[in-house]
Amino acid sequence: MTPWRSRCYPRKARRTDRSADMYSDKVIEHFQNPRNVGTIPDYDGMGKVGSEVCGDLMEVYIKVEDGRLVDVKYRTFGCGAAVASGSMGTEMVKGKTIEEALKITDEQVAEALGGLPPEKMHCSNLAADGIKAAIMDYLSRREGRGGGS
Ligand code: FES
Repeated sequence: MTPWRSRCYPRKARRTDRSADMYSDKVIEHFQNPRNVGTIPDYDGMGKVGSEVCGDLMEVYIKVEDGRLVDVKYRTFGCGAAVASGSMGTEMVKGKTIEEALKITDEQVAEALGGLPPEKMHCSNLAADGIKAAIMDYLSRREGRGGGS
């Protein structure tokens, strides 16, 4: 039996791996050098989402100032495509307004990565959904405090 971790913590992709055929150079580059990995201890919003397809998880942390995402971090317990999607998705929304960031889609994340294999499209959902969940958490906290930025 294959332990679940072997799927979720893949080896670094090498040009000789099958993944090198499946994934674009951008996916491999973001997987090997992921941006914005980590947490924000004093975050303003946090989203935790799981994939219905594979059961893997992603957490997204945001810091908001004047209605803009001034910092975005993520961590994932998912595959290489999830690592690359989290990296690209957080790069795409950093510096954006809440309204702009809420419009991010899994297709946009996958497209920015140069595409994902069809069986890996659900991995990009984790990034887009995680970002939206973090923003919704931020908005509900702000509402709980009675508004403001
Ligand atoms: S296979 Fe689970 S996130 Fe990619």
